[in-house]
Amino acid sequence: MKPLEGKEIILGITGGIAVYKAVDILRHLTRDGAGVTVVMTRHAREFVTPLTFQVLSKNPVYSDMFKGNMAGKGMEHISLAERGDILLVAPATANIIGKFANGIADDLLSTLFLSVTCPVLIAPSMNEKMYHNIVVQENIKRLHNRNIEIIEPVYGELACGDEGKGRLADVDSIIEKVIELLPMSDNISTGERGEQQGDKKNDLSNRTILITAGPTQEPLDPARYLSNPSSGKMGYALADTARRRGAEVILISGPGSLPIPNDVTFIPVKRAREMEKAVLSHIDRSDTVIMSAAVSDFEPKRFSKKKIKKTNKDIVLELKRTPDILAKIGLRKEDKIIVGFAAETDDIIVKAEKKLKNKRLDLIVVNDISNPDIGFRSDFNKVSIIDNEGKVDHLPLMSKKRLADIIIDRIIAVEPKKRYQRRNT
Ligand code: CTP
Repeated sequence: MKPLEGKEIILGITGGIAVYKAVDILRHLTRDGAGVTVVMTRHAREFVTPLTFQVLSKNPVYSDMFKGNMAGKGMEHISLAERGDILLVAPATANIIGKFANGIADDLLSTLFLSVTCPVLIAPSMNEKMYHNIVVQENIKRLHNRNIEIIEPVYGELACGDEGKGRLADVDSIIEKVIELLPMSDNISTGERGEQQGDKKNDLSNRTILITAGPTQEPLDPARYLSNPSSGKMGYALADTARRRGAEVILISGPGSLPIPNDVTFIPVKRAREMEKAVLSHIDRSDTVIMSAAVSDFEPKRFSKKKIKKTNKDIVLELKRTPDILAKIGLRKEDKIIVGFAAETDDIIVKAEKKLKNKRLDLIVVNDISNPDIGFRSDFNKVSIIDNEGKVDHLPLMSKKRLADIIIDRIIAVEPKKRYQRRNT
């Protein structure tokens, strides 16, 4: 099941240069299974035409209170308000924030805001000076105090050419927040959500965590390689989370296009053998290793320096095994905590338990790759975590960012037992 399946989202779009990013937000929401109805202000329509949003959402786009739109009754604010599970306003201008904060209802979106009972998430985007203006800040505070969620803009280059805090928050963070705010039944249990909200800022200080991420590429000739669809999102989320929680992080990553998390030692590699070398040369200073990379199990037996030219005949490709990095470090683990990943299509728990034992792991995170909606490339995953005492934890579908926090929690929970074992041996 997709993470937003069955959810109805009202996407309010107001008139700033970041309107074009609302196209991306809409595409992410629909890709994740949500039904989306777009409400645009008059100024937003100056930037991107409603037709774009209509085609992508497969729904009429609403704008005017009295032009009868698709419903034709001039009561859209009521029918839309009843329909939505969440109202997301992105980008939100200083003007709409001012209207929301002060109860002004002079167009469809501001009237709708007063009519909804569902959660509201506002993603401001504007010039930095406007954003920091005391009036805007007071309006934001006022909304915040009334349980309206605000996802803050980020620092960067602004449309006016200035640099500052005013850029619309990144699309992934907005989608993540939408999921967090939706009624929880399907995404995550209350307990887990509570667990997320605690202050965990520094619970990994004094720890060094080595994380591998992404695919490997095994070259066949200068133009071709063997690889897999891993995006690295899980490993990068783990690196970011571990860093945020105070760890020193070494991120060894196969090729990909994700932004490198701040403040980590980043080591790019291509082949499984390069990854092995990088892992072995950094393992001694790490106390925890998380192997989330999708390492190729095979590489071409021969690399052809010249491009292999096509002929009319079929060819047979000979492959040989790559080193099993995880098994190797499992053998010399000492008191390190080692976490492996497994991707299975059948008998997933039994197979993962076997891997955990054979590779001498402390934890294994296993996902069912027979479901095309989750896992590789997705922002979401549904996994089970198995520990070395055989405890299996089946987790619900959730974002990889949230999952990263939970995996780190499980790693921390392994440690006291290990210390105890060490003292008693
Ligand atoms: N791994 C590794 N070195 C390899 C292959 C995999 O370190 N050459 C690691 C991965 O990073 C992951 C785990 O081992 O943490 C996956 O285990 P593996 O036994 O390779 O499982 P699958 O890739 O699922 O392969 P299979 O089911 O074919 O055994």
